[in-house]
Amino acid sequence: MKFRLCHLLLLFTFSASLHAVFGLNNEGVALLSLLRRWTSVPYSLRSGWNTSDSTPCNWVGIECDSKNNAVSFNLSSYAISGQLGPEIGHLRELEIIDLSSNDFSGNLPEALGNCSALKCLDLSCNRFTGQIPDNFKHLQFLSALVLNNNSLEGEIPESLFQIPGLQVVLLHFNYFNGSIPSNVCDMGEVELLWLSGNRLSGTIPESIGNCSKLQVLSPDGNNLVGVLPESLNNLKNLEYLNVNNNSLNGSIPSSFRNCKNLKGLSLSHNNFSGKIPPGLGNCSSLRLLELSENRLSGKIPPELGKCKSLEILSLWKNQLEGRIPDELGMLSNLRYLKLSFNNLSGEIPHIKL
Ligand SMILES: *[C@@H]1O[C@H](CO)[C@@H](O)[C@H](O)[C@H]1NC(C)=O
Ligand SMILES: *[C@@H]1O[C@H](CO)[C@@H](O)[C@H](O)[C@H]1NC(C)=O
Ligand SMILES: *[C@@H]1O[C@H](CO)[C@@H](O)[C@H](O)[C@H]1NC(C)=O
Ligand SMILES: *[C@@H]1O[C@H](CO)[C@@H](O)[C@H](O)[C@H]1NC(C)=O
Ligand SMILES: *[C@@H]1O[C@H](CO)[C@@H](O)[C@H](O)[C@H]1NC(C)=O
Ligand SMILES: *[C@@H]1O[C@H](CO)[C@@H](O)[C@H](O)[C@H]1NC(C)=O
Ligand SMILES: *[C@@H]1O[C@H](CO)[C@@H](O)[C@H](O)[C@H]1NC(C)=O
Ligand SMILES: *[C@@H]1O[C@H](CO)[C@@H](O)[C@H](O)[C@H]1NC(C)=O
Ligand SMILES: *[C@@H]1O[C@H](CO)[C@@H](O)[C@H](O)[C@H]1NC(C)=O
Ligand SMILES: *[C@@H]1O[C@H](CO)[C@@H](O)[C@H](O)[C@H]1NC(C)=O
Repeated sequence: MKFRLCHLLLLFTFSASLHAVFGLNNEGVALLSLLRRWTSVPYSLRSGWNTSDSTPCNWVGIECDSKNNAVSFNLSSYAISGQLGPEIGHLRELEIIDLSSNDFSGNLPEALGNCSALKCLDLSCNRFTGQIPDNFKHLQFLSALVLNNNSLEGEIPESLFQIPGLQVVLLHFNYFNGSIPSNVCDMGEVELLWLSGNRLSGTIPESIGNCSKLQVLSPDGNNLVGVLPESLNNLKNLEYLNVNNNSLNGSIPSSFRNCKNLKGLSLSHNNFSGKIPPGLGNCSSLRLLELSENRLSGKIPPELGKCKSLEILSLWKNQLEGRIPDELGMLSNLRYLKLSFNNLSGEIPHIKL
């Protein structure tokens, strides 16, 4: 009890209004310190965070566990402007932070690394700048890191991929540079890896084949070079592979042997050469196949007619030749077909659009 009192007194030195926060626990005090940094806060929130309470457990955006520890802090889409202060680090029991779709700016506070119980951190769709702090590696229970649609920069820290249960990594639409960390699969739990629309360079690491649970790999719209690693063949659970808009070259791996679950394969606007592998016809779940704007040659393999789920087939602007196979006419789900800017002959199969 004595300790607790000392602790509270210590916190009071931070607080602007000693009277108003009398009795409020330290998590509540930390939240009020965060609030003070926000320049625009909706009335519902400002009035709903009642400083006369003893805990913040009934406050808008806060949920507590049975011991009155704040475990969830969710103010997604509250039109909040301002900075996220280091006081967030005092909320040590938080498992969820969702401040997505606001107008937060400034750096990600290093103190987030002190929220050691965090499972889900979603700060997407704000205007955060600066780098991902290295001490995010202390978030040993983190399973989802969602930072897409900000203005973050610098390299993606390798240390993130030492977090044992990290499953969801959404970093798309930022200014990240450097290469895709080669240790991305060290823990083998990553399921979604979205890196679209950054400034990543270098190659797709061969070690990507160790991410046995990977469902989505989407590094489209970067400056990646080199070839598609053969190890992609190991990814039995892969559903979407999107590498559009990079500078990848070499050929399309001859068989995505384990492509039964593959729904989307997007390789457009790169520098791929060689033939379209007939083995793609074995990817029976394929709905989207985009190979346009490359240097692919040879014929369109009739085996593509086996991809019964195919809805979108985009092969335009390559060096494909020969007759358009009749088998494409069997694709009853096809609703988009673009074959222009090739050397193809014959009739475009009748499809219902
Ligand atoms: C804040 O809580 C006090 C005491 O529980 C209550 O009297 C007061 O009406 C509350 N204020 C608001 C704005 O809800
Ligand atoms: C936060 O709240 C929004 C709106 O209620 C909800 O859609 C979202 O799933 C919540 N976030 C988390 C991480 O639970
Ligand atoms: C975070 O933890 C470090 C090391 O334990 C400590 O020095 C720092 O004061 C903490 N910051 C906050 C905001 O809790
Ligand atoms: C994220 O950014 C991209 C590119 O600027 C934009 O197209 C997309 O709509 C944004 N997403 C959200 C959810 O704001
Ligand atoms: C990445 O960008 C940072 C600035 O954000 C710069 O200091 C660094 O040199 C860049 N690294 C690479 C590999 O381009
Ligand atoms: C990961 O992949 C690389 C390259 O494919 C391989 O050499 C390495 O042994 C793999 N590591 C694990 C832990 O499977
Ligand atoms: C791929 O591009 C690199 C340069 O980025 C080049 O050295 C290599 O020969 C190219 N490979 C193929 C198969 O075109
Ligand atoms: C490539 O990027 C441009 C500009 O961001 C975009 O308009 C285009 O749709 C992208 N192409 C593909 C194939 O994704
Ligand atoms: C594609 O490869 C060819 C031949 O290697 C090369 O001349 C060309 O510059 C490459 N284009 C791009 C966009 O990388
Ligand atoms: C497609 O799958 C069948 C049955 O597993 C196999 O015999 C055939 O070789 C595969 N085709 C290609 C081109 O990989």
